[in-house]
Amino acid sequence: MPSSLFTSIDLRDLTLANRIVVSPMCQYSADDGSANDWHRQHLGSLAVSGAGLLMIEATAVEQAGRITHGCLGLYSDANEAALGRVVAACRRFGNTKLGIQLAHAGRKGSAQRPWQGGRALRREDGAWLTSAPSPIALDEGWPPPHALTAADLDRIEAAFVAATRRAVRLELDLVEAHCAHGYLLHEFLSPIANKRSDAYGGSLENRMRFPLRVATAMRAAWPSEKPLGARITGTDWLPGGFSVEDAVVFARALKAIGCDYVCVSSGGIVPKAPIPVAPGYQLELAARVRRDAGVVVRAVGLLAEPHQVETVIASGQADMVAMARAFLDDPRWPWHAAEALGAAVSYPPQYERSRSTLWPGAKLVRPARAAE
Ligand SMILES: Cc1cc2nc3c(=O)[nH]c(=O)nc-3n(C[C@H](O)[C@H](O)[C@H](O)COP(=O)(O)O)c2cc1C
Repeated sequence: MPSSLFTSIDLRDLTLANRIVVSPMCQYSADDGSANDWHRQHLGSLAVSGAGLLMIEATAVEQAGRITHGCLGLYSDANEAALGRVVAACRRFGNTKLGIQLAHAGRKGSAQRPWQGGRALRREDGAWLTSAPSPIALDEGWPPPHALTAADLDRIEAAFVAATRRAVRLELDLVEAHCAHGYLLHEFLSPIANKRSDAYGGSLENRMRFPLRVATAMRAAWPSEKPLGARITGTDWLPGGFSVEDAVVFARALKAIGCDYVCVSSGGIVPKAPIPVAPGYQLELAARVRRDAGVVVRAVGLLAEPHQVETVIASGQADMVAMARAFLDDPRWPWHAAEALGAAVSYPPQYERSRSTLWPGAKLVRPARAAE
């Protein structure tokens, strides 16, 4: 049977060679939002991986929308020029399409890099005032954010549009709105972070209003032949939080405004939630959203074993699979999955000689894994 994972998929006029997506991964290594040599080698390596799509990390639409001082941004001409250099290198050598995730960190901003502790920044380390739907701190030890006013919402919507326009100029293939992991757009969606009493709080319809406003404005600024997606949360994993039923409603609403797929993730609205982390733990959420909302779905979350990932696509649980840590561990994951599934994948010519089929009877010996 031919592999389902290695079949192409069309999103508007964009064709992805296969269903494998490099999940967006913050690198916390930018200079005032500008990409540098780290991003060039990180994305450059993943751009020759054979994945159908490489997502550039959560990229802040305004400086105060970064998580850390090292987060990538697309809020200045310098940011755009720096990312342009990285994109050009990926295009020159790469064989994957390039997408970008646009984001605003909301009350999770002004944080240390994960390897510095991931806590709220202190004033002497350059803390800034964060903002959110309601002035509720993320957790103990975090300052209360500023509750966004109507004028702030206009400004942030305009920032998403401006960043989208920069992505147009960079000729990226796809843009995605980050509506998950407890960042600003998710904070509007979740009753845990959103206690507003205006048109943006209360009912699900009201809580969806700002994320949908942003996605609609992005859609209008993005070429009609190119796909726009969203990463959404499938559940907050908390009583009284955003639920999978809400995710279905939100996904339907996104589809109605011209969104071409949703990536179903979960968690992150507060640091401590009982998340049942296990291989494929978000798959049921993805399958449910796909079935009930009738949208194209990307699954994510501890999916790394090639046959398991193949089954996700073949069984119709999702249309694409994103992987993050598996790609950090093995940037050649698609080559090895193609080998395991008997499928074809494109190599850059410089690396073609590592293709296992060119070594009949003398397979490359890879170090054994503990689990193998
Ligand atoms: C280093 C790292 C950075 C991440 N940064 C982002 C990000 O920028 N945007 C996002 O939506 N998710 C981010 N995530 C979450 C991943 O995209 C993915 O959803 C999560 O790691 C689960 O997938 P996995 O089990 O394949 O790693 C990050 C994960 C890692 C490990």
